[in-house]
Order: sequence, then structure tokens, then C-alpha cells
Amino acid sequence: MAKFARFSSFALVVFATVVLAFAWASGQIAFYWPLAAAALFALGVRDLVQTRHAVLRNYPIIGHFRFLIEYIRPELRQYLFESDTESVPFSRQQRAIVYQRAKLELGNRPFGSQLDVYATGFEWINHSLAPAALTGHDFRVAIGGADCAQPYSASVFNISAMSFGALSANAIRSLNRGARMGGFAHDTGEGSISRHHREFGGDLIWEIGSGYFGCRNADGTFDEARFTENALDPQVKMIELKLSQGAKPGHGGVLSGPKVTPEIAEARGVPVWSECVSPARHSAFSTPIGLLEFIARLRNASAGKPTGFKLAIGHPWEWFAIAKAMQTTGIVPDFIVVDGKEGGTGAAPAEFVDRIGAPMKEALLLVHNTLVGLGLRDRIRIGAAGKLVTAFDIVRTMALGADWCNSARGFMFALGCLQSQSCHTGKCPTGVATQDPYRQRALVVLDKAERVCNFHQNTLKAVAELIAAAGLEHPAQLKPHHIVRRV
Ligand SMILES: Cc1cc2nc3c(=O)[nH]c(=O)nc-3n(C[C@H](O)[C@H](O)[C@H](O)COP(=O)(O)O)c2cc1C
Repeated sequence: MAKFARFSSFALVVFATVVLAFAWASGQIAFYWPLAAAALFALGVRDLVQTRHAVLRNYPIIGHFRFLIEYIRPELRQYLFESDTESVPFSRQQRAIVYQRAKLELGNRPFGSQLDVYATGFEWINHSLAPAALTGHDFRVAIGGADCAQPYSASVFNISAMSFGALSANAIRSLNRGARMGGFAHDTGEGSISRHHREFGGDLIWEIGSGYFGCRNADGTFDEARFTENALDPQVKMIELKLSQGAKPGHGGVLSGPKVTPEIAEARGVPVWSECVSPARHSAFSTPIGLLEFIARLRNASAGKPTGFKLAIGHPWEWFAIAKAMQTTGIVPDFIVVDGKEGGTGAAPAEFVDRIGAPMKEALLLVHNTLVGLGLRDRIRIGAAGKLVTAFDIVRTMALGADWCNSARGFMFALGCLQSQSCHTGKCPTGVATQDPYRQRALVVLDKAERVCNFHQNTLKAVAELIAAAGLEHPAQLKPHHIVRRV
């Protein structure tokens, strides 16, 4: 019953309409009482059937308060309704930028900057007196070195890894359709490729974690034959081995039995309704050389698709050992995705979320500079993730050394996520991070796919405007000297 509590305001209105109608019919009250109740009833029905606002589909009638609050001027809203803790991890302003870009509400801002430009840490991009004239915004990066038979031309902005399981089926479908519409890539997350990833045919980066979901034997070890089956699918453009994730490096994961639905079990290749474990470490290799040999094996078994790994930086010497192994073996990954400690997760222990692993900027600089020092940088592409939602975030990260950027929560916002931070409870108010079929009904795939595509396109248009103002033609030309930070 509790899961239907969110419809209680609508139920109350239905009840009130009936009672007031009887009272009016028996002459006890004036006609406008049942009329008002009937109007609210009509509003509730409209909320339930409309397809634009997930909050209203899940919270008919009462959900309008959210829009009322949104309508109030930002300054007032901040003081009245938003405590300091509610405005993190992402500030209202950051979320508003995504919502506007996703909904095509592309207003210019009047009157000037609201940022404190003299604050320590303030960052800006230097402009040029000779701005470039850019005609497009579809910036691409070629991924796949000499050992790679099927290089991939990726957008410089893609959907970061989030599994089906952490996200709802409708969220996955919307993301993948949006990726297809906008010509960019959708990372599967470690939950492997589900039927929802395949429905619209958007480009996939297949992530393989320590659970080897989609390519495992019954005992949880790696199964090369099953790997090849999935990897050869033309929709799969790249293979990403996950070593660690910024929000919970060194921590595995457990999907409890009741959450392993038939669809999730089918995607992961695990038994239905039984506990599904991602161990903290890999079983297919245990040394840096073993890691690189495994990368070479995956690349081979996928008929030469770009193959790389994702990691958050912990002990620097372990990363140096991997870099040294590249030199000794001559095996290099086609790409490395650097995830920052500020990254998100469906669920992780609080101390992990807050205190383990290096933030993205330090991690990216370390990886980029190591590869430059070893003369390997031009053979390996670097992707980066960690709270990248605006064009300036992308520009700054590419200036620091990334070849492309991934966003997870940015695309969640494009789907309508309100940052309620209830992903781990299954009670996501917008149907993004839940497996409850009634809640995810709120998320209308065709509408949200457009928003995903709009967010991507409008963010890259803004990137184009920023780099053109700096006199550049492609974000790959960005260097650290283009960005300034007050210290
Ligand atoms: C709901 C959720 C699920 C995630 N699942 C995965 C996952 O399966 N594999 C992975 O490598 N990273 C996962 N991540 C981390 C993201 O891919 C990303 O690296 C991190 O959140 C940083 O990006 P962001 O700051 O744009 O969210 C997840 C993040 C979120 C928010």
C-alpha cells in the first residue's frame, strides 16, 4: 500500500468530489464546492496521463507545488526552501543549466554574472581578440590505436557508465535513444547489455566489471566465448574494463536477490532472484602485466574494437606500475577513462563516497602527464568524468588533458532527476533510478530521449561558442594555458 501513498492527494480529491457532489445533490451546500473538487479531479487525471512531467505522473495534483516553488525567484527559493545540504552534490544553478538545455529553454542571462569573480578558486577561459568562426559543434575524437581494427569516432561528450539495475528500464531506453538521435555513445555500466540498451540501437560502450556480467561462467569467472558473442554486436563500439569507480574505489557491490529481476538476470547472465555479487577485485588478472594481457585478449576477442580501462587513481605507484607494464610489454590500451572521487554512484558506504580516491583533476593530470613522459600519450586517448555538466566543465577538463568527457548525473538531470538522492531506496520520485514499474511509468521515453539529445547538442553548441571565443576550432586544441584559476 505504501507505494501508492504518493497518489493520496489524488485519492482524497476523488473522495471529496463524490462526497461534495452528494451534499450538493441533497441541497446541503452550494454548487461551487463540488465544482471546485471536480476541477481538481480533472487536474489529477490530466497529471496522470500527460507525458512531459515525470513528477506530475508520479505525484498528481500535489506535484504542482514543485513548479510553484520553481517559479519563485531563485534567490527567494534558495533562502526559503533549499538548505546547504540540499544544494549538493550539484548546485541549483548547475542543475538549472542542464534542465534548460534539455528543455530547449535557452535564455540569455541579463544584467551580468552572479559569480564572485574575485573568490579564490574562480576559473575562467581566456578569450582571443581574433575569435574563430565555427560552423559546427559535432566535435569528434578518433579512438583506437594501431592494434585496433575497428576504431571509433566518438563525440567529445558521452553518457557515463550507469547500469540497468541502478537505472530503470525507461531511463536506459531514453538514454540510448537520445544517444542514437545525437550520434554519441552510451556506456552500459557494469550491469552489461540489457534488452533496453538494444531497443533503439544507440552506440554502446560495453563496460566489464569484476562480476564479468554478460561474459561470465556460473562461478563468476570470465567466459571468453560469451564475451565474443556480445562484443561482436555492431552496436558495441568499444570495450571498457572497469578497474575502479571514483565514488567507491576498492569496493565491490551486491545486488540483493529480490532486485535480480528476470530482465536484470538476463542481461547479466546470473540466476533470477538470487544475490548477485561484484567482487572488489578482478579474478581474470592480478598484476599490471596481467591487466594489459587481458586488455589485449579482449581486443582480440572483439575483432579489434577499441579496448581500454576505467579507473579512479589511488596509490600513484600502482598507476605507475601499469604505465611501466605498458613499456615492458608494448601492450597499450586504446583509451583510459579517469573517474574522479567526486563521481556518483547508485549506492556506496558514506565514508567511501566522501574520502577514498583522488579527485578527477589531480587524477587526470597524473595519468596525462605520465603518458606524456613515457611518450605514449599520442597512442592512448583519455576520457574523464567527475561532475562535468556545463560547457565550461568540458572545456576546462579537455584543457587539462582529456580527449573527451563523460557525464552520468548530467544525463540523469536531463532525464528529469531532481537530486532527491533516493537511488538506493527504489523510491526515485521521477522514475530514473528505480525498478518499481509504477514509478518508472512516470518517465516517458520518447520525450526524455529528446531531452537527452537536446542536452548533449546544446552543451556542445556552448562548447563551440566558448572555444570560438578563445580563437580555437576544436576542443582538442585546448591547453592548460587557456584556463586561468585564481589561487
Ligand atoms: C546511478 C549511478 C550508477 C553508476 N553506475 C556505474 C557503473 O555501473 N559503472 C561505472 O563504472 N560507473 C558507474 N557510475 C559512475 C559514473 O559512470 C561516473 O563515472 C561518475 O558518476 C562521475 O560522473 P558524474 O559526476 O557525471 O556523475 C554510476 C554513477 C551513478 C550516478
